[in-house]
Amino acid sequence: MKTIIEPFRIKSVEPLRHTTREQRDALIKNAGYNLFKLQAKDVLIDLLTDSGTSAMSTGQWAAMMRGDESYAGSASFFRMKQVVQDLMGFRHVIPTHQGRAAERILFSVMCRPGQVVPNNTHFDTTRANIEFAGARAVDLPIPAAADTQAQLPFKGDMDVAALERLIAQEGAQRIPLVMMTVTNNSGGGQPVSMRNLEAVREVASRHGIPFYLDACRFAENAWLIGEREPEYRGWPPREIARKMFALADGCTFSAKKDAFANIGGMLCTNDDRLAAQETNLLILTEGFPTYGGLAGRDLEAIAVGLEEVLDPDYLRYRIVSTAYLGRHIAQGGVPIVEPPGGHAVYIDAARMLPHIARSRFPGQALAVELYRHAGIRSVEIGSVMFGAAARHELLRLAIPRRVYTQSHIDYVVEAILEVNAARDRIRGMRIVEEPPFLRHFSASFDWID
Ligand code: F0G
Repeated sequence: MKTIIEPFRIKSVEPLRHTTREQRDALIKNAGYNLFKLQAKDVLIDLLTDSGTSAMSTGQWAAMMRGDESYAGSASFFRMKQVVQDLMGFRHVIPTHQGRAAERILFSVMCRPGQVVPNNTHFDTTRANIEFAGARAVDLPIPAAADTQAQLPFKGDMDVAALERLIAQEGAQRIPLVMMTVTNNSGGGQPVSMRNLEAVREVASRHGIPFYLDACRFAENAWLIGEREPEYRGWPPREIARKMFALADGCTFSAKKDAFANIGGMLCTNDDRLAAQETNLLILTEGFPTYGGLAGRDLEAIAVGLEEVLDPDYLRYRIVSTAYLGRHIAQGGVPIVEPPGGHAVYIDAARMLPHIARSRFPGQALAVELYRHAGIRSVEIGSVMFGAAARHELLRLAIPRRVYTQSHIDYVVEAILEVNAARDRIRGMRIVEEPPFLRHFSASFDWID
């Protein structure tokens, strides 16, 4: 059989609520044209994020019932730690309430003011936490990634020559760690090749710099390595993931992505001295080291999720369903970041709306228009999110794991093609009010006439 089906059936459903165009016009205006400020009940299809929005399995819900809520020494922690160590191999596993808590602890311990942290592309919270520690976050994507239309298998890779140049310029002692984000979320959800991970590891080791993964979507990255890197064809995704983790000295991880959990994260390291400092900070703000801001039942959900996510049937369906959305809108003439990656499809909003200057936020304008037209929530990843550091003006359609069926996606395709047909009428936007950092979460906008 050629048809690929959702590898699950539905046991519990959540009703969706339709709104009218007039209602949505008023709702989005009241939200200051910021989709983060909409109430979720007013959204029909929510593609804001794939983070914390997964549908959990019966296995996860069952495991939650045995969550051990002891303050210290919870059995749930040790179950999770076992699963993490089998997969990732790190000596220390420090649970946190989500990925950014792991980032804050890592960078407060490792970074000094004036230092520099390179990454293939930093995610917004990663960049903000580095800057909050007084250090500088530098993106080093490969030059070919600048062309959203280029069909390359591993557009998430880091520019290794640029990394060498940065180290020569700054001096290795000013670079506390090198990070790689798998998959490269802000760079279009593109995967990183094993060959590139190995090359970056080699450069970092040669200069005595620790190498960390931002491992949020490690399983999707592992699957894409298996599909696109000839040496790994036919390898089980678990073995590819193990090999990726074996290259690193540690990682940050948001369990809200590739662990199908609604909350949770962790910080892992092989360095005993760092782990001791990190654990002290953890106790200060997150909690005791065997729960780290999570309930025992959350640790159980993560432990089970980390096993489920490496199921080849799931990963095949996941990557095929993302590509389905990407292919259908691209064939209808919508410029997307090619090829479609793991967790999301990214529309190149600057290319789709060439009449809107980058300073007038084409990605935000498109996000607002898609909501007004069809009740679909997406997110701008461009100048609103990253200011001057933005390389592209993208609109991300992130697909929650195991949540929407193919007919939901067909609805999204139809809506995007209709918005595209009337794209000349979409106007640019300006910011009316913004906070000092991570402005995309709370800024207000208005149309420019
Ligand atoms: N790193 C990457 C690559 C991410 O995509 C995220 C979150 C984080 C770190 C932080 O993790 O949310 O658990 O604190 N990304 C979400 C998104 C929010 O929508 O892409 P967190």
